[in-house]
Amino acid sequence: MKELPRSPIAHLPTPIESLPRLTANLGGPKIIIKRDDQTGLALGGNKTRKLEYLLAEAESLGCKTLITAGAIQSNHCRQTAAAARRVGMDCILVLNGEEPEDPVGNIFLDLLLGAEIVWTTKKDRQDTLEKVAKKAEIEGKKPYLVPYGGSNPTGAAAYVYAMQEFVEQSVKADWIVFATSSGGTHAGLALGKEIFGFKGKVLGISIDELAEPFAKKIYGLVKDTALLLDHELQMGPEEIRVNGDYLGGGYAVMGELEKEAIRLFASEEGVLIDPVYTGRAAGGMIDLIRKGFFRKDETVLFWHTGGTPALFAEKYRKEILT
Ligand SMILES: Cc1ncc(COP(=O)(O)O)c(C=O)c1O
Repeated sequence: MKELPRSPIAHLPTPIESLPRLTANLGGPKIIIKRDDQTGLALGGNKTRKLEYLLAEAESLGCKTLITAGAIQSNHCRQTAAAARRVGMDCILVLNGEEPEDPVGNIFLDLLLGAEIVWTTKKDRQDTLEKVAKKAEIEGKKPYLVPYGGSNPTGAAAYVYAMQEFVEQSVKADWIVFATSSGGTHAGLALGKEIFGFKGKVLGISIDELAEPFAKKIYGLVKDTALLLDHELQMGPEEIRVNGDYLGGGYAVMGELEKEAIRLFASEEGVLIDPVYTGRAAGGMIDLIRKGFFRKDETVLFWHTGGTPALFAEKYRKEILT
C-alpha cells in the first residue's frame, strides 16, 4: 500500500479505554472506546486525521488558503480553520445557517481561529462555495478546496491508517461502531479492515442518510481510495455495514435517543459526546445493545469521532439538562 504525504498535526495514537460502568449499566457486552475526540487539534475529532493528508496535498500545491463548507456547528470547519493556522495558512468557511448574534460552540471557535465566514443557505451552499473559491483565486489567495467533511480518497485514506494504528494497538474488538455522515471515516475503516486484517465488523450508524443508498456511496469511496493507495480491492459492496435506523428528526435534531446517550456517557464514565454525531451513534449502539444485537461475550469498540464543542450551542445546552 502506498504511503501518502502527511502533515503531522494530530496526537497519535489516540488512546483506547474501557467503559466498565456503562458496560455494567447496560448488562454487557463489554464496551470500550477509542478517543479520536482527543486528536489534539483545537478540541479534536476525526477530521484532524483527514486534514493531515489534505493539508500535505495543499502544501505540495503551494496553496495558501483552505476553503471548505459545512453546517452551522460544523466540527469539520472548526478543525479545518485550526489546521490552516497550524501551518500559517488562511481559512474561509462557507456555513449554511443564520449568522447568530451570540456565536457559541464551533462558530465561536471558527472566529477565534481567525476564519472568514461566508453565510449561505443549504440550497445555495455549493454555488456559494464555487463563487468564494473563484474570488479567492482571482485575489491571489491560492485556495485549496477541502472536500465536504474531508471525505475524498485522500481524506478517507487517513482512516485506513487509523485502522492500522488500531490493529497495532493489539486490543481485541468484535465490533467497531461509529457515526457516519460524509462517509470518509467509514470508507477508510472498511478498507483498512481489509488491508490490515481486522477480524471484527465495522458498523457505521448513519447520521443523516438512508442505509442502502448511503452504503453504495461509501463503497464508491472505498473503491476510489483503494485506487489511490494502489491496493487491489477484494471486498464487495455487501461488506459495507450501515445502520440507518436512528435518523430521528433529521440532521442536527437532538431527540431523546441522543440526550440519553449524552447523559449516560457523562454520568457513568465522565466522557463527553455530542448532540449531532456521537450522541446519535452512541444512542444507536445503546439501543442495539438493549435489543440483543451484540452477543454478551463480545467486545464493542465505540470509535469516538469528536464533536463536543456543539454541546455548548444554545439550542442543545438547555435541553440536555432538562
Ligand atoms: C463529530 C463527528 N463525528 C462523525 C462525523 C462523520 O464522519 P464522516 O464525515 O467521515 O462520515 C463527523 C462529520 O462531520 C463529525 O463531525
